[in-house]
Amino acid sequence: MAEQLLTVPEVAERLRITPETVRRWLRVGKLHGILLGGDKMGYRIAETEVMRLVGAPVAPTIREVVIAIAHQKGGVGKSTSTALLAAEIAELRPEWSVLVEDLDPYRHLTERWPGETASGYQSR
Ligand SMILES: Nc1ncnc2c1ncn2[C@@H]1O[C@H](COP(=O)(O)OP(=O)(O)OP(=O)(O)O)[C@@H](O)[C@H]1O
Ligand SMILES: [Mg+2]
Repeated sequence: MAEQLLTVPEVAERLRITPETVRRWLRVGKLHGILLGGDKMGYRIAETEVMRLVGAPVAPTIREVVIAIAHQKGGVGKSTSTALLAAEIAELRPEWSVLVEDLDPYRHLTERWPGETASGYQSR
């Protein structure tokens, strides 16, 4: 697989440091990167280089997770599981926005949470 190249802001985000620190580390040789010219100006740092520095794989920050619950059979707990899972995630991660999308024409989940509620649930 091709080596993943990261920009300075991407490395900063993964290491939870500022882009200025990343640039300083590049200048002093603590981190190795390649300086691109032309349209794509700026440093590119290999993902393996970032891993070498921290001694462990560095996962990208999770921005969005989509969970789909589907089954061809009726009445097997799809809606119940969706509602409980959404409520549990919202409870465990109050800083996250949880969006529940009900694709069922009966709209039972939508009726359960009409509109946006104060607890951060959204339905549509
Ligand atoms: N884990 C569970 N244990 C016992 N009963 C459950 C469980 N999950 C759901 N049920 C019950 O099973 C019934 C069907 O559940 P639910 O409406 O979530 O299924 P569904 O797959 O969304 O159905 P539909 O295909 O009609 O949309 C409901 O009465 C629900 O309360
Ligand atoms: Mg259902």
